[in-house]
Amino acid sequence: MVQSKILVIGAGGVGSIYGWRLQIGGAHVSMVCRSNFRTIKDVGFHISSKKYGDGSFLPDMVYSSAKDAFEDDQKYDYILVCTKSLPNIMNPADVLKGCKFAEGTVIVLVQNGIGIETYFHDAFPQNRILSAVAYIDTKQSKDGLIEHGERNDLSFGLYMPNKLEFYTDQNRKMCNDLVDCFIAGGAGAKVSENIQRERWFKVIWNSSFNPISVLAGGSNSTELLNMDGMENMIKDTMLETISIGEAVVKMPLSNFSNEEIFGMLIYPLRGRVPPVYPSMLVDFENKRPMEHEVILKNVINYADELGVKTPNLKVIYQLILAVESKYLK
Ligand SMILES: *[C@@H]1O[C@H](CO)[C@@H](O)[C@H](O)[C@H]1NC(C)=O
Ligand SMILES: *[C@@H]1O[C@H](CO)[C@@H](O)[C@H](O)[C@H]1NC(C)=O
Repeated sequence: MVQSKILVIGAGGVGSIYGWRLQIGGAHVSMVCRSNFRTIKDVGFHISSKKYGDGSFLPDMVYSSAKDAFEDDQKYDYILVCTKSLPNIMNPADVLKGCKFAEGTVIVLVQNGIGIETYFHDAFPQNRILSAVAYIDTKQSKDGLIEHGERNDLSFGLYMPNKLEFYTDQNRKMCNDLVDCFIAGGAGAKVSENIQRERWFKVIWNSSFNPISVLAGGSNSTELLNMDGMENMIKDTMLETISIGEAVVKMPLSNFSNEEIFGMLIYPLRGRVPPVYPSMLVDFENKRPMEHEVILKNVINYADELGVKTPNLKVIYQLILAVESKYLK
């Protein structure tokens, strides 16, 4: 088998774990590192993982900008984008601005939220896009030091903006090659026949727990669920996202009843030790931008377009913007 050449953009917790496992799976892995460039170039990543044990990861190549990664006519089969999607701050596709790559290069988006693909599709209409939904708990505690928990599962699906595309043999091979490489590296990876459905399912949690934990005074999951009435508000908000998602994908988001969904997404957090700190809460506490556009706004836009009522999400979105405006800029 030909070795895949992969460029990872975004050298935080997620990008580093994927780069590491893909290299172990046999790929040639280059990384674009921003703030941690010097450290990674010199000594690589040190990873402490419950799933894989401790290890270190030296990317085959380390670059300080995406542009550099394309000098000398470097070619990549896949570009993995593991950055946050913050379209209100910068067009997410600008991470590849000025980079010249072949039409055959596949852009793989490992980002949360809804509508994250549109920015890349608009900027690079010739390139195929793989939309990935990731279940991974990892963070960079300081430059080059990565902590990873137990999970590393990914679903990939071809982004099909106008529904005329389908899985040709070539598209399927392009998905399978990447999946095989992840599996060889010990990750749980699969090709999804309906990736948007999975994306919507994941955003049920993200669009409710994340912003509510911030708006409820910066509360971790235990605190939040101990507040009178809060669990019901979270449920109502989840039900809104479920209705919108179902209207978009034109089928149920899962085979589970709503009560079973709550049983998966809410009840296990009652009294969970340690409590969950949703990523938006972590961003809020560190005065960083929150991913409200792709987690809330794009969801609300779909609701408006399809005539689905979403009173909670609209209020939540407006309040999140207000809270963020107090510390950003
Ligand atoms: C979305 O939820 C997952 C857990 O299901 C979490 O790992 C991730 O950080 C969340 N993303 C955002 C942007 O809130
Ligand atoms: C979660 O919030 C509660 C209430 O503020 C606090 O006592 C507890 O220390 C927090 N848990 C962690 C792990 O920070």
